[in-house]
Amino acid sequence: MTAPLETEIRTERLLLRPLAAADAPAIERLAGDERVARLTARLPHPYPAGAAEAFIAMALGQERGGAGRWFAITRADGPDALLGVIGLEADDDGTVEIGYWLGVPAWGQGLMSEAVPAVVAFARQWRPGARIAAHTFPENVASQRVLEKAGFRRNGVGVCQAPARDRKTVRNAPLFVFAPDETA
Ligand SMILES: CC(C)(COP(=O)(O)OP(=O)(O)OC[C@H]1O[C@@H](n2cnc3c(N)ncnc32)[C@H](O)[C@@H]1OP(=O)(O)O)[C@@H](O)C(=O)NCCC(=O)NCCS
Repeated sequence: MTAPLETEIRTERLLLRPLAAADAPAIERLAGDERVARLTARLPHPYPAGAAEAFIAMALGQERGGAGRWFAITRADGPDALLGVIGLEADDDGTVEIGYWLGVPAWGQGLMSEAVPAVVAFARQWRPGARIAAHTFPENVASQRVLEKAGFRRNGVGVCQAPARDRKTVRNAPLFVFAPDETA
């Protein structure tokens, strides 16, 4: 099934909506925080001027080409204010990688625990039958907990880049694969 590019996902408290050019300043401000960047495999630090615009252009290009889907994480009652980003990318082998970050002010409120299951449900429609996977850094217990609660199980380790850290490569990055206990 090909979901329309303007797909919105609603959860109890959140509206996950398409990214827009107007999101660039919020992305630059929130992703520019070293506490966010150091836990991700993608965000550079310091966050370069223009990188948010380039990211949005990349995301929209992936969506048009069918290789990815990206959402601005917002509160349902404040959809203009981006809190973070969550996205899906299809690898060459057909695996769908889920990735996400929240700005520090939104941490610890259960928001990513709410967003991830909703995006996983979307991913299962977007790429039926595909393996859905996520890499985390070893110390990122919060992200690992989010994934476990969403039905992911630890499945070995992989290699991740860590552009915001001196150590550029993390070789023991726990890999999580969506494997819900459908009998529960
Ligand atoms: C990781 C991140 C997405 C978590 O989002 P969040 O909305 O703050 O997380 P939630 O509040 O939904 O839940 C986090 C869970 O981890 C737990 N947790 C949080 N910090 C923890 C810690 N240091 N140790 C153990 N558990 C922790 C919480 O208690 C909660 O579990 P619970 O519901 O069983 O109590 C967010 O902190 C973030 O964006 N970090 C920076 C970027 C990043 O790490 N991206 C993911 C890369 S894989």
